[in-house]
Amino acid sequence: MINLTAKNALVTGIANNRSIAWGIAQQLSSAGANLGVTYLPDERGKMEKKVAELTAPLQPSLFLPCNVQDDEQIQATFDAIKENWGRLDVLVHCLAFANRDDLTGDFSATSREGFRTALEISAYSLVQLAHYAKPLMTEGGSIVTLTYLGGVRVVPNYNVMGIAKAALEMNVRYLASELGPDNIRVNGISAGPIRTLASSAVGGILDMIHHVEAVAPLRRTVTQLEVGNTAAFLCSELSSGITGQIIYVDSGYEIMGM
Ligand SMILES: NC(=O)c1ccc[n+]([C@@H]2O[C@H](COP(=O)([O-])OP(=O)(O)OC[C@H]3O[C@@H](n4cnc5c(N)ncnc54)[C@H](O)[C@@H]3O)[C@@H](O)[C@H]2O)c1
Repeated sequence: MINLTAKNALVTGIANNRSIAWGIAQQLSSAGANLGVTYLPDERGKMEKKVAELTAPLQPSLFLPCNVQDDEQIQATFDAIKENWGRLDVLVHCLAFANRDDLTGDFSATSREGFRTALEISAYSLVQLAHYAKPLMTEGGSIVTLTYLGGVRVVPNYNVMGIAKAALEMNVRYLASELGPDNIRVNGISAGPIRTLASSAVGGILDMIHHVEAVAPLRRTVTQLEVGNTAAFLCSELSSGITGQIIYVDSGYEIMGM
């Protein structure tokens, strides 16, 4: 039922086949979207090679380096979209980073630099990407980001990333308010814990997953493809009345008190 044919969709945050962004890219592609993919470049080009091989079957029509700490790369990404696509319909923001040291131990020991880095990459980047996307979303659009319950409640070891997710979720609301008159919708998906490269940096991620399996109403955690299905819905006309929301895709864990 979800039809994204003729929609131009930029997906950020694919690192490997466990990435939530990979689950999203597959579901957007199945729904007919024309995909653009960005990756975080490294000096040896390892990430470029890995992400290019992984995404090749989806035949992305744009494949670009985009470190969100690099203004020139962001500018080049959106210049390429303008030149090649003319219009952008969907932006998936699926990236985050905090120093490993700041994801264990005392939250009060978070360094100034660690705080800045986590907030810049994980929260400010959505504001900046939305700023560049806005003039290209000439026929309206949908922006989707990924968040976690640790931005609303205290989760052991999530620490500074919880603060970044709280900022990210508020970004969703302010951006939805600003962009709504242009029919650009902005929503977040709060996913349950999934084993990925990023989540492996959070101390005790396996314990978190086992806890969800024991307690969540569905008695299991979720998959990247389930998150991808919700992202496809949020990017489609089926969700045309929804903006500024955080949708939980977490087997229902968020409703539980104990
Ligand atoms: N895995 C989970 O349990 C879980 C749960 C809820 C939300 N999330 C969120 O989902 C999103 C995707 O994470 P994931 O779990 O799929 O892990 P992942 O490691 O596969 O993805 C994180 C991505 O962020 C990218 N990234 C980091 N720094 C960057 C930078 N400076 N510029 C551009 N890209 C950068 C990495 O290259 C990687 O592709 C994150 O926002 C994460 O917080 C994850």
